[in-house]
Amino acid sequence: MANIIDGKKIRDYNLDIMKKEVGELNDRGIFPCLAVIIVGNDPASRVYVNNKKAACAKTGIISREYALPEETSTEELLALIDKLNSDDEVSGILCQLPVPAQIDSDAVLERISPAKDVDCFHPENVGRLSIGNGKMLPCTPNGIMKMLEYEGIDPEGKTCVIIGRSNIVGKPMAMLMTAANATVTLCHRKTANLAQVASSADILVACVGKPKFVTADMVKDGAVVIDVGMDRDENGKLCGDVDYDSVMPKTSYITPVPGGVGPMTITMLMRNTITAAKEQKNS
Ligand code: GUN
Repeated sequence: MANIIDGKKIRDYNLDIMKKEVGELNDRGIFPCLAVIIVGNDPASRVYVNNKKAACAKTGIISREYALPEETSTEELLALIDKLNSDDEVSGILCQLPVPAQIDSDAVLERISPAKDVDCFHPENVGRLSIGNGKMLPCTPNGIMKMLEYEGIDPEGKTCVIIGRSNIVGKPMAMLMTAANATVTLCHRKTANLAQVASSADILVACVGKPKFVTADMVKDGAVVIDVGMDRDENGKLCGDVDYDSVMPKTSYITPVPGGVGPMTITMLMRNTITAAKEQKNS
Protein backbone atom coordinates (compact mmCIF):
# COMPACT_ATOMS: atom_id res chain seq x y z
CA MET A 1 0.00 0.00 0.00
CA ALA A 2 1.36 3.38 -0.97
CA ASN A 3 2.38 5.96 1.60
CA ILE A 4 1.21 9.41 0.59
CA ILE A 5 3.95 11.96 1.32
CA ASP A 6 2.33 14.97 2.98
CA GLY A 7 4.17 18.07 1.76
CA LYS A 8 2.21 20.42 4.01
CA LYS A 9 3.12 18.45 7.13
CA ILE A 10 6.81 18.39 6.17
CA ARG A 11 6.65 22.11 5.30
CA ASP A 12 5.20 22.96 8.72
CA TYR A 13 7.81 20.79 10.45
CA ASN A 14 10.62 22.64 8.65
CA LEU A 15 9.10 26.12 9.05
CA ASP A 16 8.78 25.56 12.82
CA ILE A 17 12.47 24.71 13.05
CA MET A 18 13.35 27.79 11.00
CA LYS A 19 11.14 30.06 13.10
CA LYS A 20 13.13 29.11 16.20
CA GLU A 21 16.38 29.62 14.30
CA VAL A 22 15.33 33.09 13.10
CA GLY A 23 14.37 34.00 16.69
CA GLU A 24 17.85 33.01 17.86
CA LEU A 25 19.46 35.00 15.03
CA ASN A 26 17.34 38.05 15.90
CA ASP A 27 18.60 37.82 19.50
CA ARG A 28 22.12 38.14 18.09
CA GLY A 29 21.19 41.13 15.93
CA ILE A 30 20.82 39.21 12.65
CA PHE A 31 17.59 39.83 10.75
CA PRO A 32 17.18 37.64 7.65
CA CYS A 33 15.42 39.63 4.93
CA LEU A 34 14.13 38.53 1.53
CA ALA A 35 13.62 41.06 -1.28
CA VAL A 36 11.13 39.84 -3.87
CA ILE A 37 10.89 41.58 -7.24
CA ILE A 38 7.79 41.16 -9.39
CA VAL A 39 7.55 42.77 -12.83
CA GLY A 40 4.15 43.22 -14.48
CA ASN A 41 0.74 41.77 -13.72
CA ASP A 42 0.94 38.00 -14.23
CA PRO A 43 -1.78 36.60 -11.90
CA ALA A 44 0.07 33.33 -11.19
CA SER A 45 3.23 35.26 -10.27
CA ARG A 46 1.17 37.43 -7.91
CA VAL A 47 -0.09 34.30 -6.09
CA TYR A 48 3.46 32.87 -5.83
CA VAL A 49 4.85 36.16 -4.49
CA ASN A 50 2.06 36.43 -1.91
CA ASN A 51 2.79 32.84 -0.79
CA LYS A 52 6.48 33.68 -0.42
CA LYS A 53 5.66 36.72 1.71
CA ALA A 54 3.32 34.60 3.86
CA ALA A 55 6.07 32.02 4.45
CA CYS A 56 8.43 34.84 5.47
CA ALA A 57 5.84 36.09 7.96
CA LYS A 58 5.46 32.57 9.40
CA THR A 59 9.18 32.17 10.00
CA GLY A 60 9.93 35.72 11.15
CA ILE A 61 11.92 36.55 8.01
CA ILE A 62 11.51 40.18 6.92
CA SER A 63 10.06 40.44 3.40
CA ARG A 64 10.26 43.39 1.06
CA GLU A 65 8.33 43.55 -2.20
CA TYR A 66 9.40 45.55 -5.25
CA ALA A 67 6.54 45.63 -7.79
CA LEU A 68 7.64 47.10 -11.10
CA PRO A 69 5.43 48.00 -14.08
CA GLU A 70 5.01 45.73 -17.11
CA GLU A 71 7.04 48.07 -19.34
CA THR A 72 10.16 48.02 -17.09
CA SER A 73 13.42 47.81 -19.09
CA THR A 74 16.34 45.46 -18.43
CA GLU A 75 18.45 48.47 -17.37
CA GLU A 76 15.86 49.60 -14.83
CA LEU A 77 15.62 46.14 -13.33
CA LEU A 78 19.42 45.77 -13.21
CA ALA A 79 19.64 49.14 -11.42
CA LEU A 80 17.25 47.88 -8.72
CA ILE A 81 19.26 44.66 -8.35
CA ASP A 82 22.49 46.67 -7.98
CA LYS A 83 20.84 48.69 -5.21
CA LEU A 84 19.66 45.54 -3.40
CA ASN A 85 23.04 43.82 -3.87
CA SER A 86 24.70 46.63 -1.94
CA ASP A 87 21.98 46.93 0.74
CA ASP A 88 23.39 45.30 3.89
CA GLU A 89 19.89 44.78 5.28
CA VAL A 90 18.90 42.51 2.36
CA SER A 91 20.01 38.89 2.75
CA GLY A 92 18.35 37.37 -0.31
CA ILE A 93 17.02 38.63 -3.66
CA LEU A 94 14.49 36.82 -5.82
CA CYS A 95 13.16 38.04 -9.16
CA GLN A 96 9.91 36.23 -9.86
CA LEU A 97 9.89 34.52 -13.28
CA PRO A 98 8.70 34.85 -15.97
CA VAL A 99 9.60 38.47 -16.58
CA PRO A 100 8.05 40.37 -19.56
CA ALA A 101 9.59 39.55 -22.96
CA GLN A 102 11.56 42.81 -23.35
CA ILE A 103 13.68 41.93 -20.31
CA ASP A 104 16.88 39.92 -20.70
CA SER A 105 16.22 37.34 -17.97
CA ASP A 106 19.71 35.79 -18.16
CA ALA A 107 21.28 39.21 -17.52
CA VAL A 108 18.95 39.66 -14.55
CA LEU A 109 19.75 36.28 -12.97
CA GLU A 110 23.49 36.84 -13.45
CA ARG A 111 23.33 40.30 -11.88
CA ILE A 112 21.99 39.04 -8.53
CA SER A 113 24.99 38.64 -6.22
CA PRO A 114 25.73 34.89 -5.79
CA ALA A 115 25.72 35.49 -2.01
CA LYS A 116 22.10 36.71 -2.23
CA ASP A 117 20.91 34.31 -4.95
CA VAL A 118 18.31 32.41 -2.93
CA ASP A 119 16.91 30.73 -6.07
CA CYS A 120 20.34 29.20 -6.84
CA PHE A 121 20.02 30.33 -10.45
CA HIS A 122 23.34 32.24 -10.77
CA PRO A 123 25.93 30.35 -12.86
CA GLU A 124 28.41 30.54 -9.97
CA ASN A 125 25.98 28.81 -7.62
CA VAL A 126 25.02 26.26 -10.29
CA GLY A 127 28.74 25.57 -10.74
CA ARG A 128 29.25 25.15 -6.99
CA LEU A 129 26.29 22.80 -6.88
CA SER A 130 27.79 20.73 -9.69
CA ILE A 131 31.05 20.24 -7.77
CA GLY A 132 29.17 19.42 -4.60
CA ASN A 133 29.95 22.44 -2.42
CA GLY A 134 26.92 24.68 -2.92
CA LYS A 135 25.74 26.83 -0.02
CA MET A 136 22.62 27.99 -1.82
CA LEU A 137 20.64 24.94 -2.90
CA PRO A 138 17.98 24.82 -5.64
CA CYS A 139 14.62 25.14 -3.89
CA THR A 140 12.41 22.51 -5.53
CA PRO A 141 15.07 19.77 -5.78
CA ASN A 142 16.26 20.46 -2.23
CA GLY A 143 12.65 20.34 -1.03
CA ILE A 144 12.37 16.88 -2.58
CA MET A 145 15.55 15.74 -0.81
CA LYS A 146 14.09 16.98 2.50
CA MET A 147 10.87 15.06 1.87
CA LEU A 148 12.80 11.85 1.23
CA GLU A 149 14.90 12.43 4.35
CA TYR A 150 11.76 13.03 6.45
CA GLU A 151 10.31 9.74 5.23
CA GLY A 152 13.57 7.86 5.89
CA ILE A 153 14.23 7.18 2.20
CA ASP A 154 17.99 7.18 1.50
CA PRO A 155 18.85 7.58 -2.23
CA GLU A 156 22.28 5.98 -1.74
CA GLY A 157 22.76 3.09 -4.16
CA LYS A 158 19.27 3.55 -5.61
CA THR A 159 18.40 4.06 -9.24
CA CYS A 160 16.90 7.51 -9.76
CA VAL A 161 15.25 8.45 -13.04
CA ILE A 162 14.30 12.09 -13.63
CA ILE A 163 11.96 12.96 -16.48
CA GLY A 164 12.52 16.57 -17.59
CA ARG A 165 15.80 18.49 -17.89
CA SER A 166 14.87 22.08 -16.95
CA ASN A 167 17.44 24.35 -15.35
CA ILE A 168 15.08 24.94 -12.40
CA VAL A 169 14.24 21.33 -11.51
CA GLY A 170 15.54 18.44 -13.67
CA LYS A 171 19.23 19.30 -13.97
CA PRO A 172 19.77 20.44 -10.35
CA MET A 173 17.75 17.43 -9.16
CA ALA A 174 20.22 15.19 -10.98
CA MET A 175 23.09 16.94 -9.17
CA LEU A 176 21.58 16.59 -5.70
CA MET A 177 20.69 12.94 -6.30
CA THR A 178 24.23 12.29 -7.56
CA ALA A 179 25.65 13.98 -4.46
CA ALA A 180 23.40 11.69 -2.38
CA ASN A 181 24.99 8.66 -4.10
CA ALA A 182 22.04 7.66 -6.28
CA THR A 183 22.67 6.35 -9.79
CA VAL A 184 20.97 8.95 -11.95
CA THR A 185 19.40 8.97 -15.41
CA LEU A 186 18.13 12.30 -16.73
CA CYS A 187 15.47 11.82 -19.40
CA HIS A 188 14.04 14.28 -21.90
CA ARG A 189 11.95 14.47 -25.07
CA LYS A 190 14.60 12.65 -27.15
CA THR A 191 15.05 9.75 -24.71
CA ALA A 192 14.55 6.40 -26.44
CA ASN A 193 12.38 3.79 -24.71
CA LEU A 194 11.30 6.21 -22.01
CA ALA A 195 8.79 3.81 -20.42
CA GLN A 196 11.46 1.14 -20.12
CA VAL A 197 14.02 3.54 -18.63
CA ALA A 198 11.48 5.01 -16.21
CA SER A 199 10.36 1.61 -15.04
CA SER A 200 13.91 0.83 -13.90
CA ALA A 201 13.68 3.56 -11.26
CA ASP A 202 13.64 3.02 -7.51
CA ILE A 203 12.99 6.77 -7.28
CA LEU A 204 11.15 8.38 -10.19
CA VAL A 205 10.95 12.18 -10.38
CA ALA A 206 8.50 13.63 -12.90
CA CYS A 207 9.15 17.25 -13.89
CA VAL A 208 7.95 17.40 -17.50
CA GLY A 209 5.06 19.85 -17.22
CA LYS A 210 2.61 17.56 -19.04
CA PRO A 211 -0.61 16.48 -17.29
CA LYS A 212 -0.70 12.79 -16.24
CA PHE A 213 2.32 12.02 -18.45
CA VAL A 214 3.63 9.20 -16.23
CA THR A 215 1.37 6.17 -16.53
CA ALA A 216 1.38 2.88 -14.58
CA ASP A 217 3.41 1.01 -17.24
CA MET A 218 6.30 3.46 -16.64
CA VAL A 219 6.54 2.67 -12.91
CA LYS A 220 8.26 -0.24 -11.16
CA ASP A 221 6.36 -2.01 -8.38
CA GLY A 222 7.32 -0.43 -5.06
CA ALA A 223 8.94 2.67 -6.59
CA VAL A 224 9.02 6.05 -4.86
CA VAL A 225 7.29 8.53 -7.19
CA ILE A 226 7.81 12.29 -6.86
CA ASP A 227 5.51 14.53 -8.89
CA VAL A 228 6.71 18.08 -9.53
CA GLY A 229 3.96 18.88 -12.05
CA MET A 230 1.42 21.68 -11.64
CA ASP A 231 -0.79 21.05 -14.64
CA ARG A 232 -4.46 21.19 -15.64
CA ASP A 233 -6.33 18.12 -16.85
CA GLU A 234 -8.87 18.05 -19.70
CA ASN A 235 -11.51 19.47 -17.32
CA GLY A 236 -9.28 22.30 -16.14
CA LYS A 237 -8.68 20.60 -12.77
CA LEU A 238 -5.27 20.91 -11.12
CA CYS A 239 -3.19 17.74 -11.56
CA GLY A 240 0.41 16.61 -11.72
CA ASP A 241 2.72 15.00 -14.28
CA VAL A 242 1.75 11.60 -12.87
CA ASP A 243 -1.50 9.78 -13.59
CA TYR A 244 -2.05 9.50 -9.85
CA ASP A 245 -5.02 7.12 -9.71
CA SER A 246 -3.41 4.40 -11.81
CA VAL A 247 0.18 4.88 -10.57
CA MET A 248 -0.43 5.25 -6.82
CA PRO A 249 -1.28 1.58 -6.12
CA LYS A 250 2.07 0.45 -7.61
CA THR A 251 4.22 2.74 -5.45
CA SER A 252 5.70 2.51 -1.97
CA TYR A 253 5.62 6.30 -1.60
CA ILE A 254 4.05 8.99 -3.77
CA THR A 255 3.58 12.77 -3.59
CA PRO A 256 0.10 14.11 -4.38
CA VAL A 257 -0.71 17.25 -6.40
CA PRO A 258 -1.59 19.58 -4.79
CA GLY A 259 -0.08 19.18 -1.31
CA GLY A 260 3.12 17.35 -2.27
CA VAL A 261 6.27 18.99 -3.63
CA GLY A 262 4.69 22.46 -4.07
CA PRO A 263 4.76 23.53 -0.39
CA MET A 264 8.41 22.45 -0.08
CA THR A 265 9.78 24.86 -2.71
CA ILE A 266 8.96 27.99 -0.71
CA THR A 267 10.12 26.28 2.47
CA MET A 268 13.58 25.81 0.97
CA LEU A 269 13.55 29.45 -0.18
CA MET A 270 13.25 30.36 3.51
CA ARG A 271 16.15 28.02 4.28
CA ASN A 272 18.35 29.71 1.65
CA THR A 273 17.43 33.17 2.98
CA ILE A 274 18.52 32.15 6.49
CA THR A 275 21.73 30.59 5.11
CA ALA A 276 22.47 33.77 3.16
CA ALA A 277 21.89 35.98 6.23
CA LYS A 278 24.20 33.82 8.35
CA GLU A 279 26.93 33.70 5.71
CA GLN A 280 26.83 37.46 5.22
CA LYS A 281 27.28 37.99 8.97
CA ASN A 282 29.88 35.16 9.18
CA SER A 283 27.69 33.45 11.73
N1 GUN B 1 8.63 31.19 -11.16
C1 GUN B 1 8.18 29.93 -10.99
N2 GUN B 1 8.96 29.25 -10.12
C2 GUN B 1 9.93 30.10 -9.73
C3 GUN B 1 11.04 29.99 -8.84
O1 GUN B 1 11.30 28.95 -8.23
N3 GUN B 1 11.81 31.11 -8.70
C4 GUN B 1 11.55 32.28 -9.37
N4 GUN B 1 12.37 33.31 -9.18
N5 GUN B 1 10.53 32.40 -10.21
C5 GUN B 1 9.72 31.32 -10.38
